[in-house]
Amino acid sequence: MKKGLLFFYLCFFLFGLASCKQETNIFRKVKIEIIPQPNKVELFDGHLNVNTNAILLSSENVSIKSSLSKWSKTVGFIHSESSPENQIKLVIDKQLEKHEYAIDIGIKGIKVSSNSETGFYYALQSLKQLFDSSKSNYISLPYSKIQDKPRFIYRGMHLDVCRHFFKVEEVKKYIDLLAYHKFNTFHWHLTEDQGWRIEILKYPKLQEISAYRKETLIGHYNDQPHEFDKMKYGGFYTQDEIREVVAYASERYITIIPEIEMPGHAQAALAAYPELGCTGGPYEVLTKWGISENVYCPYEKTFEFLEDVIDEVVDLFPGPYIHIGGDECPKMTWKESEFCQNLIKEKNLRDEHGLQSYFISRMEKYINSKGKKIIGWDEILEGGLAPNASLMSWRGEKGGIAAAELNHEVIMTPTSHCYFDYYQSEDEDEPLAIGGLLPLKKVYEYEPIPEGLAEDKHKYILGAQGNLWTEYIPTFDKLMYMTYPRACAMAELNWSKKENRNYDSFLKRLDTHLKRLDNLAVNYADHRNEIKCSILSGKGKTQVSLECASQNDILKYWTNRNPKQILYSDTFEIKNIDTLYYASFINSKINSKIYKKNFIHHKGINASYRLGKEPAKKYGKHGGAVAMNGVRANPNKFGDSEWLGFEGTNATIIIDFEKEETISKINLGFFNGPAYWIYPPKEITISTSTDGRDWGYKHSEKNIEGPIKSMPVTLNLEPFKTRYLNISISSYGMIPDGQDGAGHKAWLFLDEVEIY
Ligand code: ACM
Repeated sequence: MKKGLLFFYLCFFLFGLASCKQETNIFRKVKIEIIPQPNKVELFDGHLNVNTNAILLSSENVSIKSSLSKWSKTVGFIHSESSPENQIKLVIDKQLEKHEYAIDIGIKGIKVSSNSETGFYYALQSLKQLFDSSKSNYISLPYSKIQDKPRFIYRGMHLDVCRHFFKVEEVKKYIDLLAYHKFNTFHWHLTEDQGWRIEILKYPKLQEISAYRKETLIGHYNDQPHEFDKMKYGGFYTQDEIREVVAYASERYITIIPEIEMPGHAQAALAAYPELGCTGGPYEVLTKWGISENVYCPYEKTFEFLEDVIDEVVDLFPGPYIHIGGDECPKMTWKESEFCQNLIKEKNLRDEHGLQSYFISRMEKYINSKGKKIIGWDEILEGGLAPNASLMSWRGEKGGIAAAELNHEVIMTPTSHCYFDYYQSEDEDEPLAIGGLLPLKKVYEYEPIPEGLAEDKHKYILGAQGNLWTEYIPTFDKLMYMTYPRACAMAELNWSKKENRNYDSFLKRLDTHLKRLDNLAVNYADHRNEIKCSILSGKGKTQVSLECASQNDILKYWTNRNPKQILYSDTFEIKNIDTLYYASFINSKINSKIYKKNFIHHKGINASYRLGKEPAKKYGKHGGAVAMNGVRANPNKFGDSEWLGFEGTNATIIIDFEKEETISKINLGFFNGPAYWIYPPKEITISTSTDGRDWGYKHSEKNIEGPIKSMPVTLNLEPFKTRYLNISISSYGMIPDGQDGAGHKAWLFLDEVEIY
């Protein structure tokens, strides 16, 4: 090798050779951009050049030395005992808190300080992200000091492997990515109505029968009639594989919480052991989604079975928690079972909810006797919370607040902010999801400590968790699409100090971070260039606001009547247009899709109106202002901002045309989605008034039926004149037994109210 070439090569290899002339074109400047955002980052003058391909971990401390090769393997750095150069030096700093770390990047290289193995590991993940910031292996890092520690002690992500099964290698990749974002808990949902996924040696039929379903529903559960693919589907993890995954996670400082569902979501187990169900079966592993009424019967033999299962589970999972489910347990078979009714009397229980509480408390006692704690979904509050149980609050925050007030540990995971099986965009091209709408920003803005929770109870909120239910996630690619980047937001809200959380800063760092995910071949969703459009009406005006995530983009809009592009600066009024177009631009080049909104024209558009009762906050954040804005909702999804959702309440719209109008037809749109507990209205009543105070009955419509999903209702009326109009829509009410959502209040979803 020529001398010059050798010198050139060494320049790449070593740290801090800022004087090398050749560096300028080769070392790529990298910013300190990390997700989750560290607690404190200080920048100094100067840069350190690093060849990330040849970096080594080193420590003079014996106790750390033994972990170096493990960290090299799990984070991806080279570890060598022999080479003294180009090192990340790891030193113990007794001043630092558990899980805290500091990174100093300076003229002498990189120094990492911590007081725990976990802290070092988190530091290395931060460094790994910095090294992954550029495709080049030659990077230039600013001299800086990073000080960091987590805000919450529980930072979780969940994965349902029952509705769709994921191979060991895929689960490991899922865990790798959790580690990359400093999550510390993987909640592994292992048993369900649609499949049992963990080998239990004492019960081989769980592997032979419960692990497989004969076919799977095609399309969405709400689509009727149901169609099936006629293909056997399933799989399970052997105990060796479980041990392998547990060890893999543990090397990455991630604890696994296994979930063994009880007393509900048990149909797959009952298919193999029908004697554990109240009716005795036969049962089959469920082939469609939803909640099965076939649940465990609280016989002694059922407890024996579950205790045997738990015996094997506790041996496999060294973590402190076993999740026992407890959610969505229909009580119909218990109501009809003589055995259950006698047990309720014998144990002096209030009712079937008391029986559920008895079931959970009994299993809790057993699990506690094995040295483990239980976690359950928030239904375990009903009928009384088991004495030592921790709670996952998923049906909003109420359950979490109630449990924290009773001094129980709580993990916040409300559907509104933490269910990553929801749509993340209103874009019509989004792949099929379960429903709802949970954009990235909404995840990011979630605050795990609920408002109003007394300060001395905050300590019971351990952290938050993102959930991946996989009914509509059949592949690993789709799993990644639904998980990222929403999991990045979840990572940050769990880790970073509240005052450090800033969505604009997050988006900036996400630009770099998504390139890292590209390099890791993660099929993430990218809605950064999506434009949000709000069209609000009332008092005779329809106004449009546009918003895009990137501050560098400019927005322009145009209409079918005037194709000239207008620069968007603020909310603007529209009148008499059929189609509005809008897009974002950077340096005059289009940087988004061209979006459009089609408008319909009717007599309500220019009227003043108000709602009798506001819709639920999560399905109607603009209140009634979209009820007559000229835009129809997406007929296939109920989560878009044009739908107004009323939870168990009637909807009333009171309209003032401000002059007498002749009316001959009213079109109303409803969503009919039993799978989501959304039902059509019971009755629609029309009244009129000349002064807005005294109302006279005009018309009513009962027995309202229609197709599943979007359900237009047309009221053809004898033409009449009125200034004021009242349209009252009564809710379906309580959902009866045997229907989806039985025992709950039905939702009413209303689209545009069109007056002709
Ligand atoms: C749940 O989503 N059923 C906990």
